Amino acid sequence: MNAAGAAPLLLAQDLARAYRVKRGWFKAPGVVQALAGVSFSLMAGRTLAVVGESGCGKSTLARVLTMIEPPSAGRIEIDGVDLAHADAATRKALRPRVQIVFQNPFGSLNPRQTIGLALEEPLLCNGMQDKDQRRHAAFDMMRHVGLRAEWHGRYPHMFSGGQRQRIAIARALMTRPRILVLDEPVSALDVSIRAQLLNLLVDLQLEFGLAYVFISHDLSVVRHVADDVLVMYLGRAVEHASRDAIFAAPAHPYTQALLSATPVADPHVRRERIVLHGELPSPFDPPAGCGFHPRCPHVQERCKVQAPPTLNGSACWLGVP
Ligand SMILES: Nc1ncnc2c1ncn2[C@@H]1O[C@H](COP(=O)(O)OP(=O)(O)O)[C@@H](O)[C@H]1O
Ligand SMILES: [Mg+2]
Repeated sequence: MNAAGAAPLLLAQDLARAYRVKRGWFKAPGVVQALAGVSFSLMAGRTLAVVGESGCGKSTLARVLTMIEPPSAGRIEIDGVDLAHADAATRKALRPRVQIVFQNPFGSLNPRQTIGLALEEPLLCNGMQDKDQRRHAAFDMMRHVGLRAEWHGRYPHMFSGGQRQRIAIARALMTRPRILVLDEPVSALDVSIRAQLLNLLVDLQLEFGLAYVFISHDLSVVRHVADDVLVMYLGRAVEHASRDAIFAAPAHPYTQALLSATPVADPHVRRERIVLHGELPSPFDPPAGCGFHPRCPHVQERCKVQAPPTLNGSACWLGVP
């Protein structure tokens, strides 16, 4: 509970997800720790942005949060209900409350299904039998997301990327979820369309009181939508702070490097670019100690042997006496 006494809508505690993967004929199967020890809480109407390079575990987090796959360890609570200990009926009832929007809406839209039917389908799956009621709800949601009523009978290929993403958002909202997980929702769109989509998401959040987990590799997008930011590296949260704190004074060297590579809108502000050397290490064989140490410009001896504690939201040995 927070100071105001309200319970979080979504609570994640020490979430982990590992995958067993084959590595070829003569090698033993490996384990990829795609997600490790990620915790946060999210209130209604708020946005948590999750950022980090490709492969750091963002989509894995999205799948675990939306119950597409279970965590290998840790706890998820939705509206105070612990998913791990909930019975099947409770889990089924909770499922429509958390929805996901993917980067590529083509993957989630059936090319042979009209937009109207695509929007009605989640209602049918949830047991809404009345055809007129479903139809009415679909038209209503199309209006909310800025799709014209006459497009109801059209097919996905007849729309632009931005419009398709509006359809995907509308479809996700049909069951009136409380939480929306958006996995790189604007990354595939042109810059001009991007701003329109972000504005739409802000409007919908206000209107429906939605909580967003907004996943992106792009800090300049995150700046417009986030209340809080969680920065991930090799499956772990390396920094978790308010948006203002992250952008004003990033604490973790990885966040500093990410931010230094983000264009600044204000021409009077100059930022020194921090160039990270080396590549993202293999998640099969993560470095000992702090996972970021091989690329960190501030690396110390202890970083190579022991994982850092998390102090004031930053998992780093810097500043630890
Ligand atoms: N189903 C899977 N089987 C094996 N490895 C996976 C699977 N899903 C993700 N991974 C691995 O987990 C890591 C994190 O992937 P992902 O969550 O997709 O990262 P991101 O979305 O940040 O790019 C990557 O190393 C990826 O190869
Ligand atoms: Mg991803």
